[in-house]
Amino acid sequence: MSTDDWKRQAAEQALEYVEDGMKLGLGTGSTAAKFVELLGGKVRSGLKVVCVPTSEATRSQAAALGIPLTTLDDTPELDLTVDGADEIDEELRLIKGGGGALLREKIVAVASDRVVIIADNSKRVDVLGKFPLPLEVVPFGIRASERLIAKLAEDSGCEGDIKLRIGTDGKPFVTDNGNLILDCAFGSIDDPEALDDALKLVPGLVETGLFLGVADVGIIVGPKGVEVLSEIDIDFDEDV
Ligand code: 5RP
Repeated sequence: MSTDDWKRQAAEQALEYVEDGMKLGLGTGSTAAKFVELLGGKVRSGLKVVCVPTSEATRSQAAALGIPLTTLDDTPELDLTVDGADEIDEELRLIKGGGGALLREKIVAVASDRVVIIADNSKRVDVLGKFPLPLEVVPFGIRASERLIAKLAEDSGCEGDIKLRIGTDGKPFVTDNGNLILDCAFGSIDDPEALDDALKLVPGLVETGLFLGVADVGIIVGPKGVEVLSEIDIDFDEDV
């Protein structure tokens, strides 16, 4: 079995949470894309849902599959969001933003009753931080923001290279919201809550890729099968 198969299994398992009539948030990234693909199949078979995508990429994919779309302006409360993650720890704390969609992902997740995270087991960590933490920042004064981020992170016990994300075209990566991403290679983040609180003091920082207290369920698939981390009751068979 490949990583791709594990991602697909996690996506299949997440479909168990979807019920007719639900308002859904659709995540971004290769794992979330598998869920969107499977959801498209269910919609073709008659499932009625309306969905808010967390990126323009997901919007295009969902629209091409004929999945009915809405916006948070028209539908500000969602039943369920299914999304991927770059890292997930035992307490369902996440690093997200590898795909650059962290701001919309967090807005959509927080507007949802339930958040299910799907991932292959390479994303499972004991301590967050091996994956460089993405921060969405406004372009104005980015060097000043970067200096302040480095200082506040150091005060919270985190040091490491902070790099402006560059896109495949060789230019700074621009998010769907017109902002930039700083990727912070902090290594171990021993106190994610303290770091998150500290970083939010930076005026030019829009949002961090730390998703703390956001996820309700983590469905992680690897060579040993399915692992479900949950803050809520699970009502389906955990064996795939
Ligand atoms: C995008 C994200 C993604 O969920 C994260 O990067 C995981 O992506 P993938 O499923 O491709 O590994 O946070 O901003």
